[in-house]
Amino acid sequence: MRAAVKSQLQATISLQDFGSLLRLAFHDAGTWNAGLKTGGANGSLRFTSETGQSVNVDTSTPLQTIQELQQGLAAGGTNLSTADLIQLCGALAVELTGGPSIPVQLGRQDASQPDSDDQLPNPDMQPAQLQQLFTGGNFSTQDLVALSGAHTIGQSRSVAPTGFMDPTPTTFDNLYFKQLLGGGGSFQTDKGLLQSQDTTALVQHYASNQTAFFQDFSTAYQKKMSLHGTSVPHRESASARATTRVEASCLKA
Ligand code: HEM
Repeated sequence: MRAAVKSQLQATISLQDFGSLLRLAFHDAGTWNAGLKTGGANGSLRFTSETGQSVNVDTSTPLQTIQELQQGLAAGGTNLSTADLIQLCGALAVELTGGPSIPVQLGRQDASQPDSDDQLPNPDMQPAQLQQLFTGGNFSTQDLVALSGAHTIGQSRSVAPTGFMDPTPTTFDNLYFKQLLGGGGSFQTDKGLLQSQDTTALVQHYASNQTAFFQDFSTAYQKKMSLHGTSVPHRESASARATTRVEASCLKA
């Protein structure tokens, strides 16, 4: 399953568009509300009312990619939820640009209604607000800094300042952190990582140790992907058994 989706992506997506798939995965998962236990990686971004929210600008094109892939897989007899495919493609975007190979567990159910956008970060947030948003969602300061390293690939297509976010936008590496230390960084939320001692120490650590960045990114990303408000089906129906088989084969991949 993973190998099939990977080769489809390699054949159809240009390297500079992988960032949009990773961001899509973050924006689907990032609606998780730890207090209410709602939202998360549940495919709710397929609702145009959610895709149309300003924080989700530029998510329509990667969503269309997901839907085309989903139709192709279904035509071949494999049914994956939108939520699963979004997260699988996000992880593959990291891998195909040279980052870690992150295991993806399947079995997410798609939500039947859009999520609220109030848990997604805004690029103008001050460091304290951003940390509060992440810690309130049960993510550590280390998770926040490691996940911010996703800005090593892709580009800002509409939000100022537009353009690439590090000098190697098609390679998942630790240049994002080196660039931050050199005075770079696209948004307030990136630059703000140098405004407190604990986050600065992590930026320095990842800038000098790419292996540590890859490990911590992978751990935080798996946690992000695992949070969703709908449970994995365990009914003994044909579709549930099919989902379980897909999950097992993916875990082995
Ligand atoms: C920490 C708070 C974050 C803020 C405020 C933020 C904000 C943004 C903004 C404003 C853009 C530009 C969107 C556009 O105009 O197209 C962007 C791009 C991007 N973000 Fe984030 N982001 C954050 C964290 C993350 C995380 C955790 C991930 C993934 C794990 C991520 C992945 C990406 C990627 C890959 C792009 C490039 C998209 C593309 O090439 O189309 N971001 N982000």
